[in-house]
Formats: sequence, C-alpha cells, structure tokens
Amino acid sequence: MKTSSINSLSTSYYLELEEKYGAHNYHPLPVVLERGEGVFMWDITGKRYYDFLSGYSAVNQGHCHPRIIRALTEQAGKLTLTSRAFHNNLLGEYARYITAYFGYDKVLPMNTGVEGGETAIKLARRWAYTKKGVPENQAKIIFAEDNFWGRTMAAISSSTDPSSYKGFGPYMPGFELVPYNDLNALENALRDNNVAAFMVEPIQGEAGVVVPDEGYLKGVRALCDQYNVLFIADEIQTGLCRTGKMLACDHENVRPDILILGKALSGGVLPVSAVLADDEVMLNIHPGEHGSTYGGNPLACAVAMEALAVLKDEQMAENAAALGVLFRKQIAALNHPHIKTIRGKGLLNAVVVEHPDPNAAWEMCLKMMENGLLAKPTHGDKIRFAPPLCITEEQLMECVGIIAKSL
Ligand SMILES: Cc1ncc(COP(=O)(O)O)c(C=O)c1O
Repeated sequence: MKTSSINSLSTSYYLELEEKYGAHNYHPLPVVLERGEGVFMWDITGKRYYDFLSGYSAVNQGHCHPRIIRALTEQAGKLTLTSRAFHNNLLGEYARYITAYFGYDKVLPMNTGVEGGETAIKLARRWAYTKKGVPENQAKIIFAEDNFWGRTMAAISSSTDPSSYKGFGPYMPGFELVPYNDLNALENALRDNNVAAFMVEPIQGEAGVVVPDEGYLKGVRALCDQYNVLFIADEIQTGLCRTGKMLACDHENVRPDILILGKALSGGVLPVSAVLADDEVMLNIHPGEHGSTYGGNPLACAVAMEALAVLKDEQMAENAAALGVLFRKQIAALNHPHIKTIRGKGLLNAVVVEHPDPNAAWEMCLKMMENGLLAKPTHGDKIRFAPPLCITEEQLMECVGIIAKSL
C-alpha cells in the first residue's frame, strides 16, 4: 500500500490493526495520534488535542522538545550503543552530571522504570546482606499498599491490585505490605531486623494521585534511620518537576537512600531510567552482578543530560507549582456535582468522579476527547490530569473550560 493511501486511512483501520495483531493488554481511548509538539498532539485527521496525560508523566518537557530532539538526532548520527562491554565517551559525563544534579555518589543506568525498581531492590537486598548483617535469603522489602511500579514478576508480587497480580503466581518471596500514609504500621514492620528497605512513591500516581499527609515522608526518613533500613523513593512518576519541585521528596526536604527516576528523564523520547545511591549502597554490586544491554547507552546519556537541563532552564518546577494551585482552585470552583474531589500537587492531579454509572469517568474522557483534551481514567472513577509542564496559564484556563464543558 502507498504511503499516501495509508495516511488517508480512517481511525477504525488503525484500531482494527492493533486489535487483530497486538496483544490485548491495554484499553486505549479510540484516538490515533501521529504528531506532537509542546502541550499538543494531533490525530490522523488533523484534529488537535491538549495532552493531559503526558505519556504517564514521561513528557514533562513537552512533546518533541527541540533541544531534546536535537540532542537525540546529533548523537544518533554518531554512536547509539556500545553495550557495557566497552566504554563510551558519554556515560562518564552523564554519570557526573546526574549525580551532581541530585547529590548522590553514584548512578546505575537502566532503561524502563520497572527495571529501576528491580535494581533498587537488588541493591537493597545486597546491602542488607553485606552491611546490615541480615542472614542469607532472609531480607525483606516493605511496600505500601496500592503501590504501582510496573508489571514484572517482582513488581506484581508487591501489588495489591488483583488486575496486576491475579493469575500470575507464584510470587516473589520477601515482600511485605503496610498501608500507605501510616507511620505506625511502618514502624511495626521495620522492627523486624531482616528488613532491608521500604520502597514508596512520595505520591501514589497510578492509585489515583493519592497525596499522603504532610510529614509522612519526614516520618518515613526518621523511621528508616532509626531502624537502619534503606528508604527507596520511587520518583519515576512524581520526580522531575511534575509535582512542583524537582523531586516530590523535596517538598519535605528528605533525601532517600535510593532514588529511582525514569519517564521524563528522557522527555518521552526513549526509555531511560536511573537509580541513584551513595557508595555505601552502590558499591556492593560488582561486575557481572547486574546490568542491561541498553543501560547507559550513549544515545540515552545525551538525551537524559539535555532533558534534565531543559527542566531547570525552563523553570518547569516553578511553572508546575504555580499552575497546579490555579488548576485545583479552578476545578474546585466549578463546584460540580459529578466531581467528588480534586487532589494533587503541582501538575500531578486527579479528580474522583461521582456518578451512579460506573463507566462515568470513561464517558467523561470520551467527551473531553471530543472537545480536544486527552486524559485517561485510572481505577475506574478517577481521572488523572497531568499536562506537559510547559503549559501556559492561558492554555490551562482553556483546558479548564474544556473540562467544564465536558462535565
Ligand atoms: C511510580 C511508578 N514507578 C514505576 C513505573 C514503571 O515504569 P515503566 O512503565 O517505565 O516500567 C511507573 C509507571 O507508570 C510508575 O508510575
């Protein structure tokens, strides 16, 4: 088939192709996108949408940010992958850059977010055996209920969401759960000497943007110190300016022992994740004990350095903080009977939809799509609103108008 005739094909053609030849592991809105720029995406008919998902917070810098795309294309013409069998001229530069940027001794580069989580857990288990003195194969990792950190066997083994874990057992041993935002429960769990780490999202994104009480993260830090347990912060969704600070942990001035980043680390350009820690934790892993073919590839290094620079140069944390306050105020002021709650921090927000129809949030997303704004329900009755952080006040107000109209 010629390219021209492919371009003129209808939305249903693409939906049917995916349905027929792709696994049925997602349930997307019926829109077929072909172009993105800043806060906007365009579908195959040329219709423009505000993106209020940002690739699950991977596109914080905006679609196809010119500086990030330039870094990508310039590096792509030189060298893309060496594997870690050899050195490349960008990995050291990138490691110096990102460790200085976040204030850690070392970085371990991976690709996807879930690999970042796996890496953090391996680091914690190894630290527990070599430094804390936990007997072999006894190390425990504590997670918060309703966590989400991906779909690998380890990730679903810590999940409390049946749609993630059901029918995939047996599960990874050595994982325990405590309720989120409950320091007493955490303290009880940490009393066990075999606990290596507590891994937690500073705000639970997939669970529906659940913001813990003020002081929770400070409390987590204090308890982890008291019981000699590593504090692992999964900032894959909350980090990189999304919540109005560089890291969500910065809201409470706490520094995790292990910091996991992903998603916007590449500005939505390719999968890049990173695990940051100090030598005390990082140097317990030796050659051959962990890695990945693509981890630390020069293309990822070039892109990540530029993506991080853009966040600071364009003051994206400040914009997210200011516009987040405005957004929540405007949505609350709608005082709409179908909106039970609006919650969030910075530009990571969600509404809880109140309606007798259990499909109401999905229907609402279809309406918003019709009206030029793309968002997706999470856990049935919640809709996450997370636009790229380059959005302007004027654009945000237009989006509030679209949401109001769709309601
Ligand atoms: C908090 C958090 N951690 C980890 C992940 C997994 O990242 P990835 O899908 O890149 O593996 C996600 C993905 O949504 C996430 O939200």
